[in-house]
Amino acid sequence: MQKKTIRDIKVEGKRVLVRVDFNVPLDINTGAISNDSRIRASLPTIKYLVDRKARVILCSHLGRPNGKVIEGLRIAPVAVRLSQLIGLPVSIASDCVGQEVENKVKTLKEGDILFLENVRFHPEEEANEPHFAQNLAQLADIYVNDAFSAAHRAHASTVGVARYLPAVAGFSMEEELNAMGKLLSAPARPFACLIGGAKVSDKIGLVQNMLKKVDILLIGGGMAATFLKAQGYEIGHSLVERDKLNLARDLLKEAEEWGVPFFLPIDVVVAEQIKPEASTKVVPISNIPSASYLVDIGPKTIELFSSRLKKCHTIMWNGPLGIYEIPQFAQGTRSMAKLLSTVNATTVIGGGSSAEIVQEMRLSDKMTHVSTGGGASLRFLEGLPLPGVEALPNKNN
Ligand code: 3PG
Repeated sequence: MQKKTIRDIKVEGKRVLVRVDFNVPLDINTGAISNDSRIRASLPTIKYLVDRKARVILCSHLGRPNGKVIEGLRIAPVAVRLSQLIGLPVSIASDCVGQEVENKVKTLKEGDILFLENVRFHPEEEANEPHFAQNLAQLADIYVNDAFSAAHRAHASTVGVARYLPAVAGFSMEEELNAMGKLLSAPARPFACLIGGAKVSDKIGLVQNMLKKVDILLIGGGMAATFLKAQGYEIGHSLVERDKLNLARDLLKEAEEWGVPFFLPIDVVVAEQIKPEASTKVVPISNIPSASYLVDIGPKTIELFSSRLKKCHTIMWNGPLGIYEIPQFAQGTRSMAKLLSTVNATTVIGGGSSAEIVQEMRLSDKMTHVSTGGGASLRFLEGLPLPGVEALPNKNN
């Protein structure tokens, strides 16, 4: 269902509260922003509003301060980065609600941008407390939600506030819903899903929902170990979710019933230690040494996965294929990212660490869509509703 967007509402001269998700990664030592793609994603929405002389009031969370003021999680560095990227001054409020903020909003001129302090400094935000949502709402005439990546949270600034103001989606939210929605409703076929990540338990819903949508499913990463074990292979010291072995068998059976080819690694890279200096070797899955860990998919698997993916017209990728944080275990993940950047297909990167990898490899521009959402995109692809999206009115309302 299409949501109303900022194109469907008159914003000229209005006070517009924009929920962005500028929850960006910060360097542990310096506090510097290490990846600003979420800020870049909302630039079109902010520019559109500024160009139409709206008074733009931005709000976001940053980190998980648990309802307390944490100095290292103040919004200022994010506002500074936004100002650099958009090339306009961005003023900062000392809080996100209260008299001082209200006074500051009153001084805003057409086209000004004000950034509210981290909304999660108030426990009422995550509790979706109505009075707090009302206080946020009274700062503005219109509410824009451009925070797809926070839409799985039913918080005051993502859900509550939409009850008190005319609410619409921003461009980033719209783009995410279109790209991810098309995957689920009308993908160009053949449609492949490449899923990795450490644990089966994190991806059960995704695999289950995708089995009903895709023409081919390929699984790598740590979670492949549980599937291989379920098929009776020795998988060394690798993490096996024993309580998920039956589920893995059921999923394999379900794939068979749906007629969906389900590919697992045929060879793997193993190491005796999960350390950058560990020595590695490539073995077929029938010959995994008992004292080893699976750390990556092997070259034959890369070849197999590549040959299958090249035949597809839509590919969704979610989750690394090995322990990609350690460069010598990252070959499989990097090869898949490179392949996806060259195939003649719609390529959607389902957020989280896969998006980070693609960004780090500077391949984002070569993909059809790189989602800003980790948890949100996973939930969306699981076929579950996102409260922040549900709170926005549909186009025909
Ligand atoms: C995210 O990074 O996935 C979103 O910003 C939501 O953050 P949260 O997991 O702390 O709610």
